[in-house]
Amino acid sequence: MKYPSSVTVVEVGPRDGFQSIKPWIETADKIETCRRLLEAGIPLMECTSFISPKAIPQMKDAEEVVTALLAIPGAADRLLALVGNKKGADRAHAAGVKKVAMVISASAEHNKNNVNKTPDQSLEELSATIAAYPDLHIKLDLATAFGCPFQGEVSMEEITYVLDGAVVAGIRDICLCDTIGVGMPDQVGRIFRALQERYGGRGVQWSVHLHNTRGMAMANTIAAMEAGVDRFETAVAGLGGCPFAPGASGNMATEDLLYFLNETGISSGVDINQVIGTSDYITGKIGCCRDSKINATTVHKIFPKA
Ligand code: COA
Ligand code: ZN
Repeated sequence: MKYPSSVTVVEVGPRDGFQSIKPWIETADKIETCRRLLEAGIPLMECTSFISPKAIPQMKDAEEVVTALLAIPGAADRLLALVGNKKGADRAHAAGVKKVAMVISASAEHNKNNVNKTPDQSLEELSATIAAYPDLHIKLDLATAFGCPFQGEVSMEEITYVLDGAVVAGIRDICLCDTIGVGMPDQVGRIFRALQERYGGRGVQWSVHLHNTRGMAMANTIAAMEAGVDRFETAVAGLGGCPFAPGASGNMATEDLLYFLNETGISSGVDINQVIGTSDYITGKIGCCRDSKINATTVHKIFPKA
């Protein structure tokens, strides 16, 4: 069969989306967005990041956001927080977070700009975090896996250099991120097939995170699916962008992915109508930035429930 019968939709709007918005978003609005997304059935969600508030002031309320969300029954296992170093993991762990995403870029230039470290230094932060918190689930977000805003092309050797280090350290949850939306379907398929061969039998859960900067995210989603990927990171309303990657813009919109999944008969357990409602809610609050196709139509109420 070409497609999986079900996939996991990982919502990243409250992290990747909000981090790219300069005007302050009220903490209560962030929490309400996350609450609605959980209610819609989102099984996993990056809800904030524990990074330097000087680097991204919008994320300075990370503790407050996770404290409120962790109080929702059953939410703890569905929440992820992004970290860029061990200090971020220290904060996340102290706040009660059970799952983090640690970001390391495949390209050294972007890693320097993003977290001010070489890939080796970031791998050391990863190992130190694993050693300090054996109970913490750690997903690796490999940024710039399909291209870098500073150096251009990223080689397979650069990708596997970081991934070899992470897999040896014990990481089994890996997301390849097209930070600036330059990946092409044949490239996405080729890279995933090569990685599955290289790390086959290790029990790695792969996922993909696609920015739609050049309109390729849907095509790349399908290419990844055809290469066996069954976990997709998307953002409500198509929010998103990395402040440390010039030209980066929104993610694949969650509602657009859900439309594709529903119409193709792939189950996700997520209610598209509730996600569209949340998309209306948060773009109304922030007054901008909707970048999804599905919201452009007024007939969305006809979509079936997931
Ligand atoms: N949370 C809070 N504060 C942090 C922090 C964290 N995770 N990591 C570092 N800091 C603070 C340090 O305590 C120090 O504070 P001080 O100046 O008051 O003493 C300051 O930041 C500098 O620390 P240092 O370790 O030297 O970091 P740096 O200057 O090399 O910056 C990062 C590195 C990781 C802190 C910074 O680049 C960052 O937060 N980047 C965010 C990346 C990101 O979120 N990108 C988008 C998502 S992919
Ligand atoms: Zn992103």
